[in-house]
Amino acid sequence: MARTREFKLTTTLLIALAISSIVVEAKPFHHFKDHLPVKLGLAGAPVAPGGEAVFVITNYGAKPDGKSDSSMSFQKAWKDACNSNGPARVVVPAGTFKTGEIIFTGPCTAAPITFEVQGTMLGSEDVSMYSQNQWITIEHVNNVIVTGPGTLDGLGASTWKLKDDSFGGGVRLPDSLVFFASNNSVAQNFASVNSKGFHIKVLQSVNVTVQNVTITAPGDSPNTDGVHVSRSENVNVLDSTIGTGDDCVSIGAGNTNVTVARIVCGPGHGLSVGSLGKWQDETDLRGVTVTNCTLTNTTNGARIKSYRQSPSLSASGIIFDDLVMNGGSNVKLSDIHFRNIRGTSLTNVAVTLNCSSTFPCEGVELVDIDLSYAGAPSQDSLPVQSACQNVKPTVSGIMNPPACPAR
Ligand SMILES: *[C@@H]1O[C@H](CO)[C@@H](O)[C@H](O)[C@H]1NC(C)=O
Ligand SMILES: *[C@@H]1O[C@H](CO)[C@@H](O)[C@H](O)[C@H]1NC(C)=O
Ligand SMILES: *[C@@H]1O[C@H](CO)[C@@H](O)[C@H](O)[C@H]1NC(C)=O
Ligand SMILES: *[C@@H]1O[C@H](CO)[C@@H](O)[C@H](O)[C@H]1NC(C)=O
Ligand SMILES: *[C@@H]1O[C@H](CO)[C@@H](O)[C@H](O)[C@H]1NC(C)=O
Ligand SMILES: *[C@@H]1O[C@H](CO)[C@@H](O)[C@H](O)[C@H]1NC(C)=O
Ligand SMILES: *[C@@H]1O[C@H](CO)[C@@H](O)[C@H](O)[C@H]1NC(C)=O
Repeated sequence: MARTREFKLTTTLLIALAISSIVVEAKPFHHFKDHLPVKLGLAGAPVAPGGEAVFVITNYGAKPDGKSDSSMSFQKAWKDACNSNGPARVVVPAGTFKTGEIIFTGPCTAAPITFEVQGTMLGSEDVSMYSQNQWITIEHVNNVIVTGPGTLDGLGASTWKLKDDSFGGGVRLPDSLVFFASNNSVAQNFASVNSKGFHIKVLQSVNVTVQNVTITAPGDSPNTDGVHVSRSENVNVLDSTIGTGDDCVSIGAGNTNVTVARIVCGPGHGLSVGSLGKWQDETDLRGVTVTNCTLTNTTNGARIKSYRQSPSLSASGIIFDDLVMNGGSNVKLSDIHFRNIRGTSLTNVAVTLNCSSTFPCEGVELVDIDLSYAGAPSQDSLPVQSACQNVKPTVSGIMNPPACPAR
């Protein structure tokens, strides 16, 4: 396999599959156990089943009324957990708790530290409360487990309009949950809805897994990416259902070894590698595997986005495997390996490999692509076909429609 073949990304490079609108049922996840039977002591005194110290935010004054600002209670509970020894757990019990910015920072003597959200957290609509444009930040602390079964509700709806051109556009809105310089951490088993900015962001971290999260925002909400990963290593995004107004998962520059598997994605833009070349100081991207994902009603499918000419930036070893795409009209895929892509196309041009003339795509492999036409009857007479520019993919297996004409 030519998995390691290097590939220079410059200017615009698109490989597009245009596909249609079947609704597919999400496959059930295999079940894994997360919950320890935590007992809470009277008056919230930390008790330790299996040696775990437990800190309940209501014992720090947090009010489950959905109105009071409980930010300080979260900070204090974290501080005590962080400064304890052995495993620790901060618990958000049932109820609705509103906060502004929360920063869980290290270094900590406790490890691991679990942040368990049983109820619902609301992120204040007042964007001036977020000094770093982030709602819940886990930073400079390793071995943190954020878990549910509760919900992080960013209350984004009232803030998305700040993105409108009439408000100057380009305003950065707070991301809901950010891991920054946090190694060996996990986000699992919770729901995230209506983030103002991104839902989950993994930045400059090593060995992070996001698993079994349900992420939801309206299809027309701006920049509400589900999971964004950048400058990180060994990151897994698994077994999750993500539908937002932007990318379900976006893998930025400077990452090594990112695996995205078993994601049910849509609506939204799709699964995206990039944007690359947007910022001057970006570093290369190596090793992204996207497998067993289903994309329904996404505008772009799976793709690589690149911006300005950045000849020193490279993306290598990118594999798209076993993707099912349903719905959406402009599925852009780019880079190297596309295998087992099945679905239906809304237009008669099913596969578009669109590379720049100055830097043609190299090392593009297509294996087993089977897309049939399911668009409007008026176009039915036209055969489904592929369109290619500046690329000579190697092709094997089923190829329906036939891959780009040999040139
Ligand atoms: C996935 O997370 C949900 C809460 O969002 C939880 O109820 C469910 O048990 C989790 N599934 C597994 C397999 O852990
Ligand atoms: C995480 O790992 C990286 C790479 O090994 C290291 O540079 C960084 O200091 C670690 N972060 C923490 C908070 O320990
Ligand atoms: C990442 O995980 C591997 C395997 O468990 C471990 O050897 C390595 O030390 C971890 N990296 C960091 C920065 O903690
Ligand atoms: C596709 O997404 C759009 C925008 O979110 C929505 O209006 C439409 O109903 C969706 N179609 C399907 C088939 O889910
Ligand atoms: C890539 O990451 C996965 C899980 O995060 C890890 O198991 C694997 O060893 C990593 N591969 C390399 C080459 O580091
Ligand atoms: C993808 O699905 C196939 C068949 O369902 C399975 O054999 C394979 O292990 C899966 N791969 C991943 C990475 O989940
Ligand atoms: C292919 O790229 C060229 C130049 O970047 C652009 O004009 C054209 O619209 C693209 N075609 C498709 C199908 O995206």
